[in-house]
Amino acid sequence: MSRLVVVSNRVADPRKTAAGGLAVALAEVLNNTGGMWFGWSGKTIEPGEPGPHAQERPLHTHQAGPVKLVTMDLDRQDYDAYYGGYSNGVLWPVFHYRLDLADFDPAYITGYRKANQLFAQKLRPLLRDDDIIWIHDYHLIPLAAELRALGCTQRIGFFLHIPLPPPLILAAIPGHDWLIRALFAYDLVGFQSNADHEHFCRYVQAEAHAQDLGRGRWRAFNRTVQAGAFPIGIDVDEFVALGQASEGREMYERMTREYSRRQLLVGVDRLDYSKGLPHRMQAFRSLLQNFPENRRVATLIQIASPSREEVDAYTDILHEIESLCGSINGNYGELDWMPVRYMHRNVARPRLPGLYRASRVALVTPLRDGMNLVAKEFVVAQDPADPGVLVLSRFAGAAEQLKEALLVNPYDIEATANAINLALHMPIEERRTRHQALLATIRRCDVHWWCNTFLETLAHTQAEVSGTPWL
Ligand code: ADP
Ligand code: G6P
Repeated sequence: MSRLVVVSNRVADPRKTAAGGLAVALAEVLNNTGGMWFGWSGKTIEPGEPGPHAQERPLHTHQAGPVKLVTMDLDRQDYDAYYGGYSNGVLWPVFHYRLDLADFDPAYITGYRKANQLFAQKLRPLLRDDDIIWIHDYHLIPLAAELRALGCTQRIGFFLHIPLPPPLILAAIPGHDWLIRALFAYDLVGFQSNADHEHFCRYVQAEAHAQDLGRGRWRAFNRTVQAGAFPIGIDVDEFVALGQASEGREMYERMTREYSRRQLLVGVDRLDYSKGLPHRMQAFRSLLQNFPENRRVATLIQIASPSREEVDAYTDILHEIESLCGSINGNYGELDWMPVRYMHRNVARPRLPGLYRASRVALVTPLRDGMNLVAKEFVVAQDPADPGVLVLSRFAGAAEQLKEALLVNPYDIEATANAINLALHMPIEERRTRHQALLATIRRCDVHWWCNTFLETLAHTQAEVSGTPWL
């Protein structure tokens, strides 16, 4: 049996809490398959700090159950250009359709390439000939090309956890052709949704003049790559078990006791501008304004974990949310009722199912999202006899699968408020019918299905060691 080698920027100990869909999903996959997980250690070396040069610096190794975690430190300047700069100042905003937030500083691409080269140099000596290598997300798009340049001939797959925008948005990135060319060093490239996959097909046809070989295969730059949609899922059984464990049950009991005379709405996100939190707050304010019967009853619990605070756009959103929550509570709050409870922190993962189950409605209303796992977690945590309702943005990848949610356009504040009102007052039969259908889909396409389908497809791609798309 080949060993699975997973590579991502963010690496998390599979036994600890992590906020972010990638780390949560990969921890669940690797706990099951075993293998190696390679990535950044979370540590940066400050300028002038004594110690060896990046190339000679030792790796950190830690065995976490069946998973060997191997991580590397990055120099502060490289990290700033690669992570805060190119990954989160260019690729993240553009791939989430926010050209207005992108900063195309040419120094960023240099740092991004350098970090990818370092990943390749450090990983190369650890690889076995029959390893299956699976690289994840926008931080590491050129990694396969760098590995191939060092002589790696293994099967290499890539999965993009975030959306891929239409060709004309992608084409705004200086050097976008370089990025897409880098994808041709992989054997299989996976996207979250059919829409993202379609954008890829349109891009490679129009911009790279790739030849369509059928069945998802494309030929360009003297290489063949296969592409497809592989919507990521959650570990349903694990999440159900978490809900039945003591911390999950205690949280549920505490919340239902505390809010016995209220109806809870819940939002759980990283504090990211793509999550549409200001629009969500405005919709909640419209709900209270337009449907006064919900006042003193509906309470929104919004948990937003700190994220990427070194990037300006993230501090801007922090202030916007705090001021919106303050004004809603100031205008509508009563001595014995606070409309919004906002927490800028992480919730321990074992408590999440209890929080979801105690909530009548989940607000999952990103302006763009690759998939959104919170939507799936909320559905799985519900009591099937008395389930809550999912209000879901049509711009989340999850909306392609979760058709029985109340789908909304988060930019349309009034329509979203109407949908929230509908959700709060939905009859129990309709709640049950919708929940049953959603749960069946989420169960069928869980995280193990995602992993198996991707890896089986990768194993069946036609191995091709020739071609030179190297950068
Ligand atoms: P993203 O990957 O963009 O953060 P997802 O919704 O796909 O969005 O995944 C987020 C994951 O991180 C989910 O598993 C969710 O439970 C977890 N998470 C997000 N925010 C928090 C938080 N504030 N506290 C605890 N877990 C969180
Ligand atoms: C999203 C991205 C991941 C990232 C996560 C958390 O899920 O797709 O690649 O790990 O957000 O963000 P962070 O920048 O903290 O790793």
